[in-house]
Amino acid sequence: MTDKNLRVAIDVGTTKVCTIIGADQPSGDTEILGVGSHPSNGLKKGSVVNIDQTVKSILSSVEEAKLMAAVHMVRSAVIGIAGSHIYSFNSSGVVAVKGKSITKEDVDRVLDAAKAIVIPSDREILHVIPQEFRVDNIRGIKDPTGMHGIRLEAHVHIVTGQTSLIQNLIRCVVQAGIQPEQIVLQPIASSRSVLTLEEKELGVVVIDIGGGTTDIAIWKEGSLIHSQIIPVGGNHFTNDLAVALKAPHNEAERIKIHHGSVLPEKVNQSSQISVQGISGTKPREVQVSYVSSVLGSRAEELFTLVKNEIEDKGYSEMISGGYVITGGGALIRDLVELAEYILERPAKIGYPIPFGGMTTVMQNPKFSTVLGLIREPTHGLALPNEESHVQNSSKENKQNKENKDETDEEIKHSAIMERFSKSIKSVLKDIF
Ligand SMILES: Nc1ncnc2c1ncn2[C@@H]1O[C@H](COP(=O)(O)OP(=O)(O)OP(=O)(O)O)[C@@H](O)[C@H]1O
Ligand SMILES: [Mg+2]
Repeated sequence: MTDKNLRVAIDVGTTKVCTIIGADQPSGDTEILGVGSHPSNGLKKGSVVNIDQTVKSILSSVEEAKLMAAVHMVRSAVIGIAGSHIYSFNSSGVVAVKGKSITKEDVDRVLDAAKAIVIPSDREILHVIPQEFRVDNIRGIKDPTGMHGIRLEAHVHIVTGQTSLIQNLIRCVVQAGIQPEQIVLQPIASSRSVLTLEEKELGVVVIDIGGGTTDIAIWKEGSLIHSQIIPVGGNHFTNDLAVALKAPHNEAERIKIHHGSVLPEKVNQSSQISVQGISGTKPREVQVSYVSSVLGSRAEELFTLVKNEIEDKGYSEMISGGYVITGGGALIRDLVELAEYILERPAKIGYPIPFGGMTTVMQNPKFSTVLGLIREPTHGLALPNEESHVQNSSKENKQNKENKDETDEEIKHSAIMERFSKSIKSVLKDIF
């Protein structure tokens, strides 16, 4: 297999770094060759807080995927991003059509006009996603190229992030010897993996409950109309339980996964479990319904936040398709039932839709993001290709890492960042 066929995606999450190596098939599909997943210790609420720890997790995860895929070289990868620094909004632009019919240049100009808004100097644009074009008075056009008209209007969804935090993520990937090809908002990737075209058309909300954040993406008429990162995730459920049960984090995590429910009225009221307290103390008996009431309160709070956000933005009436809950945090028992009650719409767990080489192990909501990152060509922040970042076999990888000159690293990293603004052009080219 040649290098060109390889496609690599890395989801740098708060609880795990997950890597998938896939190969493009002649049919246009992607075939999964290898998967690697390693606990993540360097992130908090979706943002990198410890570079060394994050680099280690990325290296381990990539190495595992390389071994499984029998691939010796990973040059570049698509990277997912989230974190509470992400801010998204809708924008629009209008231009006069120059010739008789609309050309690609007209489309580029109108998209430039739509993104010509002032954003704070400490932020970068990650995505400019066209929602619809309007030619004169005709609405809902997905591709206006070749159409006749005088006035061309573009409506887009713009995703921005704090430059320093994007830089930190890029730095980690570069230090792991990998060239970040594109930086893609995680809920966009998760949506790609769990939603059907029909659901996106009908109007649907993806709620990706990860470890550190809950990411929302709202789709209507096939377009992304809203995205939002809420800084509450599955780890908050565990922390609540650890505090309430006066138990260590690991014990609280075990209880959440094996005995947790978010509906106290659905659990056996007389049933008890043994909880190991802090070291040196004897295990105690705790009512399962108490565990559920702790988890239920947090889930209720989370869904109320989601509901308020959607109501504030005025999207409540657009969600005919309901809610699709994904991410590892979606697996707490009875979550769907509680979601339907609070959000007053149908809800379901979003399992990744299977494709080439995907094993049953991968059909878990916690892999939705990474599977979405690898599935199709992405339209995130496109970064320039740097041949010099390439690491070869694991042996070479180690050798190169040892030899790597810190200054060289800095230059490469700043070269990538310098070209951030220019990269928007290539993002738009990718889209059309
Ligand atoms: N079976 C389960 N039942 C309940 N919770 C679960 C289960 N499996 C995983 N989780 C929870 O899912 C969360 C991790 O989800 P996920 O792997 O999607 O997060 P992440 O991608 O690493 O984090 P983030 O997207 O926030 O950066 C953890 O809080 C974990 O406790
Ligand atoms: Mg995640």
